[in-house]
Amino acid sequence: MFFNLSCMLLSPVSDIIRRRRSIYPPVYKDTPISDEVILEILENANWAPTHKMTQPWRFSVIRGEKLTFVKDYIGQYYKDNAGQEYSELKYHKMTGNIEKSACIIAIGMHRDSQDAVAEWEEMAAVAMAVQNMWLTCASLGIGAYWGTSAAARSAATIVGFEEGVRCLGFFFMGYTSEENWPKSKRSAIQNHVKWL
Ligand SMILES: Cc1cc2nc3c(=O)[nH]c(=O)nc-3n(C[C@H](O)[C@H](O)[C@H](O)COP(=O)(O)O)c2cc1C
Repeated sequence: MFFNLSCMLLSPVSDIIRRRRSIYPPVYKDTPISDEVILEILENANWAPTHKMTQPWRFSVIRGEKLTFVKDYIGQYYKDNAGQEYSELKYHKMTGNIEKSACIIAIGMHRDSQDAVAEWEEMAAVAMAVQNMWLTCASLGIGAYWGTSAAARSAATIVGFEEGVRCLGFFFMGYTSEENWPKSKRSAIQNHVKWL
């Protein structure tokens, strides 16, 4: 039942899906990401499917001086909440990731006031929107990853989300060069499927 696709020419969409990687800020270049490109990324997020068309995603685009503002907030949150676990290395990693990003998009999930659909469905829809953003980035040579630290998830107010919007983390972005594009692997799909 399974075709060996590795010896077949991949369709453009399969190629991008398999090329998408989590790429972290230390390898991002200084090159800015234009408004047009950010809009394309967001527009593609907006085409994700949703039950009852609730379109629960909310986004906040963070660039320039706002990155410093968010970096300071995240650093302070970590200092205030890490307790015994506090590590100077982790503090610098968290704040450095923000400093090195060309742009961060805070990911929000709005709950419909009528609760028309289950919360998990809204979360699934937001995750599909994030995947659209991630695939768009992969197609444009932009490194990206979804970070879901407690600090990022606590940032709904400071990134300007309205009340009732939950922050599901940050989407970090920056152009990167081909040699920094990581390889990855997956366990075989056969291990995850039953054909009935
Ligand atoms: C919902 C979600 C949350 C994630 N949160 C984090 C995170 O907080 N920190 C991190 O380094 N990577 C995070 N990742 C990235 C995963 O670690 C990464 O996708 C996984 O290792 C597979 O690697 P790949 O994306 O390069 O294929 C997250 C991914 C998803 C889908």
